[in-house]
Amino acid sequence: MAAQTQSGGANNISQQTIDAYRRDGFVRVSGMISKEEAEKYRQAAVAAAAANKSLTVGDIFTQHVNIWRSDPVMRSLTLHPNVTAAVRKLAGVPLRLWHDQILIKKPHNNTPTEFHQDQPYWPHANSTHPISIWIALCDVPPERGCMTFIPGFQHRDDLAPQNLGDANSLFDMCPEMQWAPRVTLPVRAGDCTFHHGRCPHQANANSTDQARVAHAVIFIDACTTYNGAKHVVTDPLGLKAGAVLEDELFPVVGE
Ligand code: SIN
Ligand code: NI
Repeated sequence: MAAQTQSGGANNISQQTIDAYRRDGFVRVSGMISKEEAEKYRQAAVAAAAANKSLTVGDIFTQHVNIWRSDPVMRSLTLHPNVTAAVRKLAGVPLRLWHDQILIKKPHNNTPTEFHQDQPYWPHANSTHPISIWIALCDVPPERGCMTFIPGFQHRDDLAPQNLGDANSLFDMCPEMQWAPRVTLPVRAGDCTFHHGRCPHQANANSTDQARVAHAVIFIDACTTYNGAKHVVTDPLGLKAGAVLEDELFPVVGE
């Protein structure tokens, strides 16, 4: 299998990168933002994390959802033109923002993010091209918790939500995934990975002395509708099943 990496930044997502993403369900791009930008956003993310209520997911990570709505600096990363142009090209369809997340693994957190797909957690219908960007705001080798992917399983749209804290959860549902090749993609500050919402992925525990600071931004088909299920992002909105997600809270991007 060819290396799933594009070097040299965001401005020219190549056809090879698009093909790799659509075949494998993920791809790595180095230099999505500059090292200087990454350091600026790392500091902003750490400050925002300290100032805002977090969702703590066991010892796996702390998660700060929809920071773009309240923090202008983080908003400029979530809606960074490099980011929106790249996801639009990779997905190949009109997209809207679903939500963003600052994801921090504390030093020596001792707890991996176990294999899962993202889309089964979401209350969506009509979303067949969901895509996430996971931007490293510091250097993230495997021992600090970079992402590992299982190529080619993004077509599995029949699985129930998996337990992020249970190493067997996904594999109990889909045993053939356990024996498929895995691809671990270390990233330097400013690099990123993209993954399809159903591409299985995992991240190691952080066994280093430095926090792992990442910013994930999730985009969905612009035509996605709400399916009535519970979710922290949509629960306060009082949406009716079948509603299209609104432009103000879920802006269309990359047009
Ligand atoms: C992580 O950052 O540890 C996992 C991110 C994800 O599951 O998308
Ligand atoms: Ni995930």
